[in-house]
Amino acid sequence: MKTPIDKNLAAQPDTTRRRLLLGGLGLGGMAALGVSPLGAAVAAQPEEITFAFGPDDSGSLQALIEAFNQEYEGRIRVRYQLMPRSTDDFYRQISSDFDVDSSRIDVFGGDMVWTAAFASRGYVTDVTARLNDAYGPGDFLDTPLNSVGYRNRFWGVPWYTDAGMLYYRRDLLESAGHDNPPASWDELARIAGDVRDKTGTKYGFVFQGAQYEGGVANMLEFLWSAGGRVLTGNLSTAAAFGMDVSSPNVITINSADSARGVSIARELIENGVAPQEVASFREEDATRAFLNGDAVFMRNWPFAYGLIDEKGSKLSADQIGIAPIPRERPGGNSYGCLGGWNLMINAQSSKQDAAWEFIRFAASPERQAQRARDGGFLPTLSALYDDEKLLEQVPVMALGRRAIDDARLRPVTPFYSAMSQRLAIAFNRVLRGELTGQQAVSQLQRELQLILDRRG
Ligand code: GLC
Repeated sequence: MKTPIDKNLAAQPDTTRRRLLLGGLGLGGMAALGVSPLGAAVAAQPEEITFAFGPDDSGSLQALIEAFNQEYEGRIRVRYQLMPRSTDDFYRQISSDFDVDSSRIDVFGGDMVWTAAFASRGYVTDVTARLNDAYGPGDFLDTPLNSVGYRNRFWGVPWYTDAGMLYYRRDLLESAGHDNPPASWDELARIAGDVRDKTGTKYGFVFQGAQYEGGVANMLEFLWSAGGRVLTGNLSTAAAFGMDVSSPNVITINSADSARGVSIARELIENGVAPQEVASFREEDATRAFLNGDAVFMRNWPFAYGLIDEKGSKLSADQIGIAPIPRERPGGNSYGCLGGWNLMINAQSSKQDAAWEFIRFAASPERQAQRARDGGFLPTLSALYDDEKLLEQVPVMALGRRAIDDARLRPVTPFYSAMSQRLAIAFNRVLRGELTGQQAVSQLQRELQLILDRRG
């Protein structure tokens, strides 16, 4: 694999890192060694950095932070700043900090859809030189690596990756005589109905339809499965990240295919396959219903797998299977939506080196493997997918790897957040029966084009 960034960019000397390694050259290094600039002994004062991220129900984040603080004792101490669970609320809160040049947060885990906006507004540090210095070509999977790239620079380090997938109750399907998970939406509806009737399970299918970012990921999976597209120039990761956002983009959402895809979601509700409540479901609601044994199928991200053995789950791993997102028709394509979170540094932070040390630690193979084992978070380092023992311990990794290669990016543009809000509203209205699929996509065609025209 070739990294999208010319290796020459890495030729810039990374003096800050060297200073840390040599220790004692900078004042920070002296303090860490317990020597004041004047030579008198002082108590070692670790440099405190603040790491911002949402809640983690698996406990794997806490373990990571504790391990870091232990290993870096006396040198760097990480303080965990709890951020909102929902990516939209997290985005609003952290953007508002960055808008006023706050340096309260030094380093954070950021949703991959934020890269273009944060990079173009100068909120995050360009880590191109550091990244090229620390990692070799091929160390990261292509797609997650692309998700920290924008305008030929790197703005973070891929931490874990996500792709939408279909969870199913292997035990219930088998007991109802179905050997394979569904490959198309029609088949899903048929099997869900049959299994529900035979086993008395409450819901056929649960997914995320609330008016928020997760709803958009679900909407796009329906839309893409029927051949629809939102924005041209977004056909492959290479094109998406090489693209010049000042060149005119074309919104192409208003098509019969898009309308059909979005309508499938509403039909699943109308036909009783999915409950009307999915219109207010987020990841945690769907996970709770599924792990409580109340649903035959669930669309979710890999992290849900990491919660199977947690308190509150009535299921065990052998009752659950995972499959790709269904297709619209046999022989068609299906695409999971690509998700994932990257480690980024606040450009205003005065603790850039310490923040980078934390990133290196959090993204290390040991920590990525630990978070995969404890939380089902899919690694971004390619080598971990060759680790047979890890693959055995984390079965979701095998499908995850394939799903990531086939996953599609949400539109890559600095105006993504504005566009995504319109997508979320429209999808939610379709799920509530207030708009048809066709009405939604023709309205979105106009709204999204306006966003691009006014801001582009
Ligand atoms: C997951 C994905 C992220 C996505 C979010 C939506 O956290 O990793 O990319 O935006 O879900 O809720």
